[in-house]
Amino acid sequence: MNQQHSGTAPRGRFITFEGIDGAGKSSQLAATVALLAARGIDVEQSREPGGTALGERLRELLLHEPMHLETEAMLMFAARREHLAARIEPALAAGRWVVCDRFSDATFAYQVGGRGLARDKFDALEAWVHPNLQPDLTLLFDLAPEIAAARVAATGADPDRFEREQRDFFVRVRAAYLERARRAPQRICVIDADRPPETIRADIERLVRERFLA
Ligand SMILES: Nc1ncnc2c1ncn2[C@@H]1O[C@H](COP(=O)(O)OP(=O)(O)O)[C@@H](O)[C@H]1O
Ligand SMILES: [Mg+2]
Repeated sequence: MNQQHSGTAPRGRFITFEGIDGAGKSSQLAATVALLAARGIDVEQSREPGGTALGERLRELLLHEPMHLETEAMLMFAARREHLAARIEPALAAGRWVVCDRFSDATFAYQVGGRGLARDKFDALEAWVHPNLQPDLTLLFDLAPEIAAARVAATGADPDRFEREQRDFFVRVRAAYLERARRAPQRICVIDADRPPETIRADIERLVRERFLA
């Protein structure tokens, strides 16, 4: 835990990174956290599913245990409920910023787009778990599934239950992400992830600076 702020601290900002596996989220997240910290911002890095001890246990189940698609959606939101209550909300209220690898846009993309979860069920879960909160900024790393899959394969890591899905799945996930971005164009910035890491990093730095640090 970082130091406590006084009750008068302005609310922190909530920034999320989204995109299919291999799009480059994790690679860029650390650089963004470092950029903010260098500006003197008190920033926490987190991820979903996960972010709390309970959430990380749910993550293990979600990534490795076969289950019904509605079970999957509910466990995602259960982990998120805990993450919000135990970590995200207290941090933002104390003036700390939170930079998170995936949030509800991922559940929309993977469970609704990828798996075919009914939209009204997603909407109900989102309205239950965070009726009044959305990220202040979401960076959507957009990349062709073929390129993303080649990057994931090149890491040589054991694929999880999602990474083992076929191309069609990721085509649907990508389309659902882009649909979500069209519906929230102010919040969700689409980043062309098929460029060198340095170019993407510079884009993110500019976006964050314009949006929050100007
Ligand atoms: N812009 C990029 N160009 C080429 N390869 C990249 C780029 N960004 C990340 N990678 C590589 O692709 C792989 C997946 O990146 P990662 O950041 O883990 O993606 P994600 O977190 O979105 O799954 C890693 O091996 C990483 O080094
Ligand atoms: Mg990652």
